[in-house]
Amino acid sequence: MSDDAVAAADHFRAIGYTRAPDGLPLETFERPVPKPQPGELLVHVVSSSLNPLDYKLAELNFLGRTPPVALGFDFAGIVIARGDAVTTFDIGDAVFGMVPSNRDGAWASGGTGGYALVPECLVTSKPDGFSFVEAGALGVCYLSAYLALADTLDAGATVYIPGGGGGVGHLAIQLAKALGAKRIISSAGNVRSRALALSSGADHVFDYRRDDIEGKIDRLTQAQGVDLVFDATYSEDSFVATSKLVRPGGRWVVLGVGPGKTSRRAETESPVAGILAAKDAQLVNVNLLRYFSDSVPLDAKTKTLLSGAIRDAAATAEAGVVRPHLSEIIPSEVGAINAALAEMRAGRKSVGKIAIVVDKERAR
Ligand SMILES: NC(=O)c1ccc[n+]([C@@H]2O[C@H](COP(=O)([O-])OP(=O)(O)OC[C@H]3O[C@@H](n4cnc5c(N)ncnc54)[C@H](OP(=O)(O)O)[C@@H]3O)[C@@H](O)[C@H]2O)c1
Repeated sequence: MSDDAVAAADHFRAIGYTRAPDGLPLETFERPVPKPQPGELLVHVVSSSLNPLDYKLAELNFLGRTPPVALGFDFAGIVIARGDAVTTFDIGDAVFGMVPSNRDGAWASGGTGGYALVPECLVTSKPDGFSFVEAGALGVCYLSAYLALADTLDAGATVYIPGGGGGVGHLAIQLAKALGAKRIISSAGNVRSRALALSSGADHVFDYRRDDIEGKIDRLTQAQGVDLVFDATYSEDSFVATSKLVRPGGRWVVLGVGPGKTSRRAETESPVAGILAAKDAQLVNVNLLRYFSDSVPLDAKTKTLLSGAIRDAAATAEAGVVRPHLSEIIPSEVGAINAALAEMRAGRKSVGKIAIVVDKERAR
């Protein structure tokens, strides 16, 4: 693609929250197109997707940002400008990744694309076999799944990944398989989620609302427990239940702030650390947001970790072993996004990922 294939406008209409806290429903507001600083890329955004993080930030503003704040942390698009010291990408490259959660996100209304300023370490080349719309659904969820499993899952392991119909969960199941898990057990709450967990590669999928999962996993593992649990359900009830399913000396991996802190409004006592400690099992907390929770620039070690993770993640996708399930594709319009976020917040969202088309022309 030539340098002028996508011309940068001066301004665009971002979508996000304009007051804090309680910033839902979202609104649109004018933003100047930003200029990349050293180590940054300006990406013309073609597509994005929805994450629970979007409505949580709008509701709680827990990173302490001053509104207006543009949302949409997943993106796929085209590099249109580079700051100094960017070594890896050229103008016109098709890329995907994650916008740091303490920065403006990728959503823009109007259908002609948005603009995201992203550090080089959170960008990677779009896999050839992926459309922009598919690649735009990978960022937060796939990076989270990758950071959770890449260093914790040993080949041949038996793993339990509850929530296998969710954005993170269905990608985590695919990745676990690619990393050599011998047996993958999952659970979900409705028929479509269970079907997605199964088609993503789980060997056994239970209904967490009805089944005696502890009994079933006991039977499957001859009462040993599983080698690894990756619990991305963000449910304290689930955390307590799944921590009991790890074998002695095994691992329990969680996303975000972790047991006892699933709501950022309150902190409760949680037995999870004690349950794991009693069997000498390891608690691994992968919190992608912690890298962006203040305004201090990322240090070299974190940049290396994140860029390695996103490139490995892209390579796994390129190899064809991981592909996001897009249950809905919606336009980047404030009404459509507000409706989808309300469903997600109420726990009624579609399974897998909801993709957002930001540039109608280039997403085709
Ligand atoms: N801090 C971080 O680094 C970070 C990064 C990414 C995500 N997160 C958080 O991780 C969570 C998951 O993200 P996501 O994008 O995957 O959300 P999602 O698409 O809404 O998926 C959540 C899934 O959890 C399932 N679930 C809920 N309770 C369960 C239980 N007791 N047992 C089994 N499954 C259960 C739901 O299944 P049913 O619909 O079938 O009930 C749903 O499919 C969110 O809260 C998100 O904010 C944190």
